[in-house]
Amino acid sequence: MAKADPAPRHFLQFNDFSRAEFDYLFARARWIKGQFKSYQQYWPLSDRTLVMIFEKASTRTRLSFEAGMQQLGGSAIYLNTRDSQLGRGEPVEDAAQVISRMSDIVMIRTFEQEIIERFAANSRVPVVNGLTNEYHPCQILADIFTYIEHRGSIEGRTVAWIGDSNNVCNTWLQAAEVFGFNVHVSTPPGYEVEPERAGLYGTDHYEEFSDPMEAASGADLVTTDVWTSMGFEAENEERLRDFEDWQVDAEMMQVAKPDALFMHCLPAHRGEEVAAEVIDGPQSVVWDEAENRLHAQKALLEYLLIGRVNG
Ligand code: CP
Ligand code: NVA
Repeated sequence: MAKADPAPRHFLQFNDFSRAEFDYLFARARWIKGQFKSYQQYWPLSDRTLVMIFEKASTRTRLSFEAGMQQLGGSAIYLNTRDSQLGRGEPVEDAAQVISRMSDIVMIRTFEQEIIERFAANSRVPVVNGLTNEYHPCQILADIFTYIEHRGSIEGRTVAWIGDSNNVCNTWLQAAEVFGFNVHVSTPPGYEVEPERAGLYGTDHYEEFSDPMEAASGADLVTTDVWTSMGFEAENEERLRDFEDWQVDAEMMQVAKPDALFMHCLPAHRGEEVAAEVIDGPQSVVWDEAENRLHAQKALLEYLLIGRVNG
């Protein structure tokens, strides 16, 4: 049953949550993952409905939210722009009013952050960002959970971001402020971080490097993403040229710490932003990272729908 909450909590960007809330979510994700791995039924969300709105393509986000909701005893409904009224000009405010009266939580993947903010402002239920042009908070929730599983606390560590200062990069930068780690960013000229667009409080937690090898030097984690994000396809040819020297390859991994991890949110383009020997090599944790979308988002759904629980 949809309940009318006058001020629902949303997860629209990473710094909407506090460090203490993330620590709680990671503890829950660990427990939920353990239950799932040992085939224990856990259905706290029976009768709850998640609506997922996709204005861009997805494999992992759709799968992890849909499977996650079902595994918690709830159900998920998929809407896209092509075959709903969302693609025919219905105001986002009207869509939010209607959708949030028929569901308990909404996940949206769209273009400008402003669209999800307008939806959330008119929603009776929590809204979760499943990727916008500016941010991808669910990805970094899973990524930091993955880092902690492999290496322990990320506080004080150095993350090297190589490539485009896109939605995933912006979210790493917000996470650095929340958790107290440093990001070494290296982008080609003209693609630098825009602190305001990244939603940062300051510039204390990141440093920009024109040379990607310098950015990777001594890093605990090296990470990258596609050179052309969804919605920017018209720039693809230009970007292929501009980003040519920003590939994470074995030589770059060698200047990072010997036990450095490699992460990529996926989908990846081997031979562009990452060499096959790195993503398919021993330092890569990309499959754990993808799987952890499921466990981390189940903790997020539980928290937004029923609050803190013991277990
Ligand atoms: N990493 C990620 O969000 O993947 P999808 O685009 O497949 O959802
Ligand atoms: N930066 C990429 C991430 C895809 C999961 C994009 O926005 O297309």
